[in-house]
Amino acid sequence: MNCNAIILAAGDGKRMNSSKPKVMCEVLSEPMIGWVLDSVKGAGIPDENIGVIVGNGAEIVKEYLTSRGEFRTFMQKERKGTGHAVMQAEEMLVSGNNVLVLCGDAPFVNSATIAAALNEHTHSGNDVTVVSAEFDDPAGYGRIIRDENGAFSAIVEKKDCTLEQLQITEINSGVYWFRADALKNALPGLSDNNASGEFYLTDTVEIICKNGGKAGIFTAPDPGVVLGANSRADLLQLNIIAKMAVIGKLLDDGVEFVSTDGVIIGKNVSIGRDTRILPGTIIRGNTVIGENCVLGPNTLIENCKIGNSVTLNNVQAYDSRIADRVKAGPFVQLRPGTVLHDGVKIGDFVEIKNSEIGINTAVAHLTYVGDSDVGKGVNFGCGCVTANYDGINKYRTKIGDYAFIGCNTNLIAPVEIGENATTAAGSTITKSVPPDSLAVERAQTKIIDHWEKNSKRIKKA
Ligand code: UD1
Ligand code: CA
Repeated sequence: MNCNAIILAAGDGKRMNSSKPKVMCEVLSEPMIGWVLDSVKGAGIPDENIGVIVGNGAEIVKEYLTSRGEFRTFMQKERKGTGHAVMQAEEMLVSGNNVLVLCGDAPFVNSATIAAALNEHTHSGNDVTVVSAEFDDPAGYGRIIRDENGAFSAIVEKKDCTLEQLQITEINSGVYWFRADALKNALPGLSDNNASGEFYLTDTVEIICKNGGKAGIFTAPDPGVVLGANSRADLLQLNIIAKMAVIGKLLDDGVEFVSTDGVIIGKNVSIGRDTRILPGTIIRGNTVIGENCVLGPNTLIENCKIGNSVTLNNVQAYDSRIADRVKAGPFVQLRPGTVLHDGVKIGDFVEIKNSEIGINTAVAHLTYVGDSDVGKGVNFGCGCVTANYDGINKYRTKIGDYAFIGCNTNLIAPVEIGENATTAAGSTITKSVPPDSLAVERAQTKIIDHWEKNSKRIKKA
C-alpha cells in the first residue's frame, strides 16, 4: 500500500492529569499509542511510512517508539490543535498519495477498519473519508454535520455545537483518510477562531467541501473501535472493556476462569485450552502458555514461554522459559533469563535469575540461584545461596546432574559441583567439588559436658 500515516500524539493531556504524555497511558499494560501502531502496521503500512507528531513528553514517546520500530517523528513545539499538529508533518503529504490521520489516544481502532475505510475512500473517489460511529451518548466527540440532502459537510466540536447539534449521535472517530493533495490545500485555510482557540483538523472537511471536494463517511460497524480516552475515567473504562474482550476470546479458546477478579491479560498473550486462570493473575507482554496449566492465584507473568501442565501459585515470572509439568510457588520470583526444564519444582521463597535448571531438579525452600547452570535431578536443601557477585563482577555456578546441595550451602562463584557430588549442610564452598565426592567446610562440633548444671539460666531458675 503506497500510503503514509500520521499519528497525533503531542497533546498535553490536561484532562488525564498525568505527568506522562497521555498517549503513554496504558490499556492492559500497553501504552495506547502502541495499540494504534499495531493496527496501522497490521493494515500494511510500513514503519518508514508512519509519522508520529510528538510534543508533550516527546522524549518519553520517542523512547517507546524506538523500542517498537523505526518511525518518523515530528515535533510540535506548541500545542495549537490537531490541525496544527498535522501541519508539522507536511512532508508526509506526498502528492498523488492517500494519507491516514489518526489519534494516539484511541487504542481500539483496528486494521480491518483502517483497510475498509481506505477501500471506501478510493472507491468513492473521496478527498476525505471520516470514520464515524453512532453513540447513544455522543459525549465529548465531534459531531458529524450533514446538509439538507443528507450529504456530509462538516464536523463540529462539542464545545462549538449549537443545542441542536449537540443532539447529533453520529460522531467523528478521529480516524481519517485524506487525498494528500486535498489535505495540503485545506490546511492553510484553518483558523483558530473557535471555542478552544485551536486549529482543528476537523475543519478541513468543511474547507474541502467548500473547495468543491468530496467528503465521505465510513461508519465503523462496531462503534467500540473508535473509543478514546481523555480522562482517567475514560482510561479505566477502556481497560474494563479491553479486559473482558480479551477474556471473552480466551473463553472461546477453551481457557477456564472461575472468576475474573483481579485478572488482567494482555492482548498479545496466547493460552492453551483447559488452562485455569485463578484470581489476581496478570499476564502480559509476548507470553505463550500451554494447555492444562493452573496459574494463580496472585501470579504475574511477563514475556514468558510456558509449556503444558505447569502450576504457578503466587509466582512472579519475567522473560523466562518454563517447560512442561513445572511446579512453582508459593512466593517465587523467576527473573529474566530463567529456564526451567521439565518437571522442575521450585518451592516457597525461592528466587531464580539468569539460570538454567535441569529436568526434575528441586529447589524447594528459601534459596537464591543466580547465574547458574544446574543439571538434572539435583536437590537443593533449604536456604542455599549462589554467591554470584563480588561487588564488581558476576560469575557463574555450575552444578552437575544428581548433585545434592545440603541445607544452607553457600556456593561462591565461579565454582563447579561435579555430578552426583554432595555438599554438607552449612558449607561455604569456594573451590570446585569433583564428581561423586562430599565437600564439607565447617568446624568440628565441640561438646562441653555438664553445661546445663553450670549454666546461668539453670542457676537463675
Ligand atoms: C478529537 C477530534 C474530535 C473527535 C475525537 C475522537 C479535533 C479538533 N477533534 O477531539 O472531533 O471526536 O478526537 O477521539 O480534532 N494532539 C496533538 N497536538 C495538539 C492537540 C492534540 O498532537 O495540538 C493529539 C492528542 O495527543 C491526541 C489527538 O491529537 O492524541 C486528539 O486530541 P484531543 O485533544 O484528545 O482531541 P479530542 O478533544 O479528543
Ligand atoms: Ca481525544
